[in-house]
Amino acid sequence: MVTATFTPPDERFHGSHDVPGDKSLSHRALILAAMAEGTSRVRGVSTGHDVRSMLGALDALGVAFEGDHVVSPGVRGWAAPAGPLDLRNSGTALRVLTGALAAHPSRVSLTGDASLRARPMRRLVAPLAALGAPVELTDGCCAPVTTGGADLRGAHVTLAIASAQVRTAVAVAALQAEGPSSIDSPGGFRDHTERWLAALGLGRWAGRTRFEILPGLVPPTDYPVPRDPSSAAFLWAAAALSPGSSVRTPGVSLNPGRIGFLDVLEQMGATVERRVTSMVLGDPVGDVTVAGASLRGAHVGGDLAVRTIDELPLVAVCAGVARGETRITGAAELRAKESDRIAAVVTLLRDLGADADPTADGFIVAGGARYRAARTSSGGDHRIAMAAAVAATAAGGPVTVDGFDAADVSWPGFDRALEAAWSSR
Ligand code: S3P
Repeated sequence: MVTATFTPPDERFHGSHDVPGDKSLSHRALILAAMAEGTSRVRGVSTGHDVRSMLGALDALGVAFEGDHVVSPGVRGWAAPAGPLDLRNSGTALRVLTGALAAHPSRVSLTGDASLRARPMRRLVAPLAALGAPVELTDGCCAPVTTGGADLRGAHVTLAIASAQVRTAVAVAALQAEGPSSIDSPGGFRDHTERWLAALGLGRWAGRTRFEILPGLVPPTDYPVPRDPSSAAFLWAAAALSPGSSVRTPGVSLNPGRIGFLDVLEQMGATVERRVTSMVLGDPVGDVTVAGASLRGAHVGGDLAVRTIDELPLVAVCAGVARGETRITGAAELRAKESDRIAAVVTLLRDLGADADPTADGFIVAGGARYRAARTSSGGDHRIAMAAAVAATAAGGPVTVDGFDAADVSWPGFDRALEAAWSSR
């Protein structure tokens, strides 16, 4: 276990920083490239361990990676893996691959590390069963998950939760089904998969949240992966916490389901500029600049909570020092992430000397704290490790984070990137 110590910057900072390739889009590009028969290209994938886990699983299915080329026999030619696929910490890889493997000729098991094996997988069962795919869980809830061996038929699926992972799992299964399917859920989800499938001619919107999947072969495609707004968010939060400082991050995904945090930062009083510079298969990409200010509390709930879900630990860190209370509602999903993030952010804020309380579906932060020098733990969760490091921006002394190596899941080298941001002028 790695312990890292972050010493607060003593000056304002201004700089432009490249962040890693987007994790959600790396998973989608790799799986769609692997489903296509022939050679696709996936450029700029995330360097994080989660995406390595996806690469390892696709390799076991007989997909080859030559530089940024992905050479595949196509989903119908995927090999039977020699044993269970180990997706380690990656919920997206496990859930989306379960959908892609639902029509595989043999039964395939997918598993992960202790954290992933504790995460809820029941959400996959009814939607995939509607397509005729049997999904077996362990202990009725969890990974190892076993699927495959079924002929799929189109179905109209409605989810109770706004999960982009489950929507994507259903979509990649439905591509292999006999007849069209559709998928609906509450709103606010990242709609990367839907935008890309529409651009590839494999689907279309049938309402604000309902998307139709038109079964067919995924064509070999070139996927330039944008940079990751959920990684950039750590630098945006550092700037927001330092009045007079600013951070610019070029080329990040600006999918509306990914950038709720920018709306929250504006509500809290930070200055945010965002500019769309290009589209990748119908999904917007652009540059973001965040400038810090004296922050005020905010309310985050409903669709905004979904659109900010992975950044809520950073909302908490900003809220601790903001003027007035911050209230997060409608975010019970936080309990089902790489750790129970409601418990984790409350512990982090209390370690830093701030006042925070958990609720059933979120948390309340009193605000007005001055963070103290502290020692805290990542609890094995990458986003908690990095949020704790960012809190040092506004702390009265060093912040030490036990288990900081968890950050490698999405951003190996984040410690150096944060220090580079703090020292840029
Ligand atoms: C993701 C969707 C979200 C998000 C996760 C990545 C994706 O999870 O929290 O980090 O790439 O589809 P849910 O689908 O569980 O909401």
